[in-house]
Amino acid sequence: MNNFQDYLAEYQQSISDPEKFWASQADNFVWKKKWDSVLQWDFHKPEVKWFIGGKLNITENCIDRHLPQRANQTAILWESNDPKEPSRNITYQQLHEQVCKVGNMLKAQGVKKGDRVCIYMPMVPETSFAILGCARIGAVHSVVFAGFSAGSLADRINDSGCKVVLTSDGTFRGDKSINLKAIVDEALDKSPTVEKCIVLERTKAKISMKPARDLWWHDEMQKVNNQCPAEEMDAEDLLFILYTSGSTGKPKGMVHTCGGYMVYTDYTFKQVFQYKEGQVYWCTADVGWITGHSYILYGPLSNGATSLMFEGVPSWPDMGRFWHVIEKHKVNIFYTAPTAIRSLEKAPLSFVEKYDLSSLQILGTVGEPINEEAWHWYDHNIGKGKCPIVDTWWQTETGGVMISPLAGITKTKPSFATLPMPGVQPAVMDESGNEMMGNGIEGRLTIKFPWPSIARTIYGDHQRFKDTYFSTFPGKYFTGDGCKRDEEGYYRITGRVDDIIIVSGHNMGTAEVESAIDEHSAVCESAVVGFPHDIKGQGIYAFVVTYDPIHEENHLRNEIKDVVAKIIGPIAKPDKIQFVSGLPKTRSGKIMRRILRKVAEGDTSNLGDTTTLLDPAVVEEIKAGAL
Ligand code: PRX
Repeated sequence: MNNFQDYLAEYQQSISDPEKFWASQADNFVWKKKWDSVLQWDFHKPEVKWFIGGKLNITENCIDRHLPQRANQTAILWESNDPKEPSRNITYQQLHEQVCKVGNMLKAQGVKKGDRVCIYMPMVPETSFAILGCARIGAVHSVVFAGFSAGSLADRINDSGCKVVLTSDGTFRGDKSINLKAIVDEALDKSPTVEKCIVLERTKAKISMKPARDLWWHDEMQKVNNQCPAEEMDAEDLLFILYTSGSTGKPKGMVHTCGGYMVYTDYTFKQVFQYKEGQVYWCTADVGWITGHSYILYGPLSNGATSLMFEGVPSWPDMGRFWHVIEKHKVNIFYTAPTAIRSLEKAPLSFVEKYDLSSLQILGTVGEPINEEAWHWYDHNIGKGKCPIVDTWWQTETGGVMISPLAGITKTKPSFATLPMPGVQPAVMDESGNEMMGNGIEGRLTIKFPWPSIARTIYGDHQRFKDTYFSTFPGKYFTGDGCKRDEEGYYRITGRVDDIIIVSGHNMGTAEVESAIDEHSAVCESAVVGFPHDIKGQGIYAFVVTYDPIHEENHLRNEIKDVVAKIIGPIAKPDKIQFVSGLPKTRSGKIMRRILRKVAEGDTSNLGDTTTLLDPAVVEEIKAGAL
């Protein structure tokens, strides 16, 4: 697509004959066997299958097929946490060798097609080798973000029954070094399915190795050769599981399959960023999230791009690090999160002005709504007014970008994700479950037709998959987001309408945080809501009821935060903790979060109807004690 007319035409084709449209996209890949039929679906069951009967291996499409033209081109350009450590250029040829070796290393440990492998690793090239190495041999990767606690890691390992864990001694984050292996050790005490743990040396931290279970990456990689045939995978075989928070306590293992995911991430990467041969592309997400899976690895590599992978943080050694990296590697396409933009915006502009950002051509954002002010700052100071900004709306569940401008093609509008990608058919629903037609409307965002990379199920719990996504509006996929469609037909995502809050772009289930808070022995019960936060987008506000009167409030607050960090991970620590004598509950015992949300937002002028409350007096106390 080269212009807006092309987009309109392609969109039209994609919805008038979706099967023909996606089959013509799928024709651009290497298939070991072509599909027999394109699509089979029923959102009521729910069931979705794409490219039925097709056989492929995604790593052949991301690596092998590029070797004739680009063996020596950099596939992964790695920038260390430490600006003094040399960067690494992994060519497509080297990527091929390393991925094959990891595949062979896993096979040597008895890993077979369909086995689950947990990857709990830092942002180093070996983590990409690990992910792609699993895909090479048909093992299902389950990457867990290396900021999660031992308990969260164990839950995820156990839920999917992983056989092997790949980790490292530690990870660097700014001036800190974190001992990942110690966290894994603690998790593995509770994870009986794990037979082997393979440890990459990164920080050289002192760690313990359990004989018979633990192996060093460098020892095992030495024992294997660099040729590994790509396992033949059915289009609907599992490629990976990735956990995301749900509105009940337990995280959901979203399942993505090989064929549709490959086609969709390739297509969306190419179209959204209007990727051109030779460009250097940088997505700042962690590979532990869906953005890293789809747009650090699979989408860019499938397009033969050079994908930059950054180990560090935006604020170290100083607030200019992102801009330094852009100058150093002449980055052309830069894709980051609104929370990062807001935090960097707070630093003096001299941190930006020091660097030459003239290589930049396209900017992107993902993970949460971007406020207009941050959008303008990004546009003006980073893009210098000449780079289109693609505000990409999508989810772990959708696998790839769903609503977004196409860079340079779609006219952008601050804080609007604009228009659906070809193949994506949004429907905005009112509260009584009717589709709202026309423009200038606001409601709940659903998608009424399948796209190739929609998650197929929740691992081990298809009923929950149905209940969560296909029951609120029968026959439609419910995103959990609210949206507006303006007069132009542009979509603006207004945020979650369920019990999920988005903190620095990361999904947090309120129930999960509450159950962690409740683990503190002094806590009787708690309720968690989001509140607007300058940098994080949303912060976590916890209302806590204790068993006994409290003497040292701040001391207890810190203890509660530590418990949450220990149980879920530091990202889930509440920003504010208000101690209350009771929670506003209905007579049936349901917490009225609407009231708590208002208090947390600092807007108590109109709390709406409180007559159904069991004890209206508690609301006055909560209002008076608001933080
Ligand atoms: O609420 C939406 C928000 O992030 C949620 C999905 O989170 P997750 O599965 O972690 O995936 C994040 C990366 C794809 C969505 O339901 N969200 C994501 N992108 C945007 C957004 N909200 C507004 N604008 C966006 N561009």
